[in-house]
Amino acid sequence: MTTYRIAPSILSADFAQLGKEVRDVVAAGADMIHFDVMDNHYVPNLTIGPMVCSAIRPLVKVPIDVHLMVKPVDRLVPDFAKAGADIISFHPEASEHIDRTLQLIHDNGCKAGLVFNPATPLDYLLHVMDKLDLILIMSVNPGFGGQSFIPHALKKIETARAMIDSSGRQIMLEVDGGIKVENIAEVARAGADTFVSGSAIFNEPDYATVIRQMREQLNT
Ligand code: DX5
Ligand code: ZN
Repeated sequence: MTTYRIAPSILSADFAQLGKEVRDVVAAGADMIHFDVMDNHYVPNLTIGPMVCSAIRPLVKVPIDVHLMVKPVDRLVPDFAKAGADIISFHPEASEHIDRTLQLIHDNGCKAGLVFNPATPLDYLLHVMDKLDLILIMSVNPGFGGQSFIPHALKKIETARAMIDSSGRQIMLEVDGGIKVENIAEVARAGADTFVSGSAIFNEPDYATVIRQMREQLNT
């Protein structure tokens, strides 16, 4: 049986009360906290860094899933590891040496993931499957919350699922962008097991209800 994980993206949380938001969403049933790092260079937006990760780390026990949308990647890896990140994922186009960056993440004691934009081919996976703990398929172009799910991502999720299954390794298959109660079941059927959701959770008054509805969709 598949273990499904719901990873709320705090990009859509109220930053004026981020600690409360993180606690509330975990109390509402979140399995991980998805932490979007944007640098106004690799993506056209600017968000939060290791200091904010350190600040929220003691508040909850669930893993912190850091999604780096930054270029260059490597110098932030030790900083996020020290700040308490559990998983660090990056976009292959943003790293000069993908294998080295994956190794660096592991050397710093974290799980490592590669992230694929809607138009980025999965070919980057070919020689690094043995170094991956997570594959993240973007179902929007990175940079902003609240965008619509790009249906073409479903095919890519299916392909990534087949690659994971034939590798025989335990690799999480995460999807990020436009996930909501109405489409989460379809995304799961394509093969995803980990679901990032920002606006669909944080724009509702009752996070527990949304997360429960998502789980109901996953279990039917
Ligand atoms: C987009 C981010 C996402 C985003 C998801 O670049 O990586 O994590 O916050 O937000 P929603 O669920 O609103 O699409
Ligand atoms: Zn993200």
